[in-house]
Amino acid sequence: MSKIIIAIDGFSSTGKSTLAKQLAKELHYVYVDTGAMYRAVTLYAMRNQYIDDQQFDKKALISDLKNIKLHFVFNDDKGLAEMYLNDKNVENEIRTLEVSQFVSQVSTISEVRKKLVEQQQEMGKERGIVMDGRDIGTVVFPDAEVKLFMTASADKRAKRRYKELLDRGDEDVSYERVLKNVESRDYIDSTRLDSPLTKADDAIEIDNSDMGLEEQFERIMSLISTRL
Ligand code: DC
Repeated sequence: MSKIIIAIDGFSSTGKSTLAKQLAKELHYVYVDTGAMYRAVTLYAMRNQYIDDQQFDKKALISDLKNIKLHFVFNDDKGLAEMYLNDKNVENEIRTLEVSQFVSQVSTISEVRKKLVEQQQEMGKERGIVMDGRDIGTVVFPDAEVKLFMTASADKRAKRRYKELLDRGDEDVSYERVLKNVESRDYIDSTRLDSPLTKADDAIEIDNSDMGLEEQFERIMSLISTRL
């Protein structure tokens, strides 16, 4: 069976990564979470004081991009790939609400996008990949055989994300703060000039506000099997 590319785009916290992981496991494909890459660059920018609540020194970040090395390492115990920034595992640090608060701003920078898109295209060269993000079906792999575009109401998404943060032991969060972050990321991600979040013409839209994980997986697998 020939290997294909499955591109999953959509708003934040629409369950893209959950679905992508299920599909990759079923098909024995590689899963790439491109949001993790933008989050790792954001963490680097925060650690170097290029970005905080008061300022964002884009120039400094851009000239330092060459010193940012990103790669994924598969963790056999967890059964998933973890994000490494300059050879250090940053999987936990990149998932905090603080990083979420700055990541959309960092993602507007064309130089950042160019560097990450090139790396993503390299990872998909052999096909057999499930990649999720915001611009996978439109920019990274416009020729992907399967393109999905995920949506759900902001309230449902904020509730899911809030629960995730609580489960991770993040006690400083409130539902209101998470909802605000979801809404502000929606806005920045879909209105930025370079590669805004938008549904590719040939993508299939899935609103999973009221859909269970099993049902979603079954529906999408039957759709994919027609394209393999
Ligand atoms: O998927 P996520 O919520 O972890 O992504 C974090 C942010 O990264 C998201 O708000 C926008 C940005 N992003 C992007 O601009 N392009 C991608 N392909 C993936 C993520």
